[in-house]
Amino acid sequence: MTQARRTFLVMLGVPGAGKGTQARLLEEALGIPQISTGDLFRYNLKNQTELGLLAKSYMDRGELVPDEVTILMVQDRIQREDCQKGAIFDGFPRNLVQAVALDQMTAGDGGIRRVLMFNLDDDEAMRRITGRRTCPVCGTVYHVDYNPPKVEGRCDLEGAELVQRDDDKPETVKTRLYVYYKQTSPLVGYYFAKGLLTEIDGTQPIDEVQAQLLAVVQSEPVA
Ligand code: AP5
Repeated sequence: MTQARRTFLVMLGVPGAGKGTQARLLEEALGIPQISTGDLFRYNLKNQTELGLLAKSYMDRGELVPDEVTILMVQDRIQREDCQKGAIFDGFPRNLVQAVALDQMTAGDGGIRRVLMFNLDDDEAMRRITGRRTCPVCGTVYHVDYNPPKVEGRCDLEGAELVQRDDDKPETVKTRLYVYYKQTSPLVGYYFAKGLLTEIDGTQPIDEVQAQLLAVVQSEPVA
């Protein structure tokens, strides 16, 4: 019996464009996991692993963690049981070296199914990032104005006090945006040339972005 082709989706866009928010919603809708390299680094940091401590030195400056460790981490992650039907990549790939590595990792499944590019201007990205708050227990992401918790400063699910990410300070966000334009934005052309790119209007409210996204991915045959 031939095994069904796995579905691999990629989320692209500036920091704060809504990649993580939408990847989590899509994970529920499609039944395939979100793989966020940023979350994997933060998880390692929380557990004080060697990888986490290495990643922190780059994340604090808003720079990319070296490709070798990032690629190995993703290779390891997609071997896990929950990726049997595929995965939604959020924050990976971030440059051409990572994109080529991902092509190789997914080649056996016919490659990446679709790349979703979230369009958002830098000023709005900055507003979204500086207002972002996260639950340190379950990772749920809120925004103080656009997506506030029911009780100010507390997670709806865990009741824990919400925190701001260390790399969400305006100075670090400026570097992250610079790194995005220099290293990540060439991927737009890379995926466009492969016929994989779909642009999503990231300026809309969360539920409208989700509806647009679902319409796109559900029009693709999912394994
Ligand atoms: P990472 O964690 O990946 O951060 P990022 O890509 O900069 O993306 P963000 O998480 O900031 O934004 P997002 O687009 O997910 O937005 P979100 O949904 O949260 O990376 C952090 C660092 O890790 C990097 O700088 C690097 O050092 C390292 N790293 C990670 N991956 C790497 C890799 N592959 N290679 C090397 N290094 C790597 O939304 C933002 C806010 O807006 C939230 O508050 C949310 O509630 C709100 N919001 C979302 N959608 C909407 C909407 N439609 N309307 C209104 N508000 C909205």
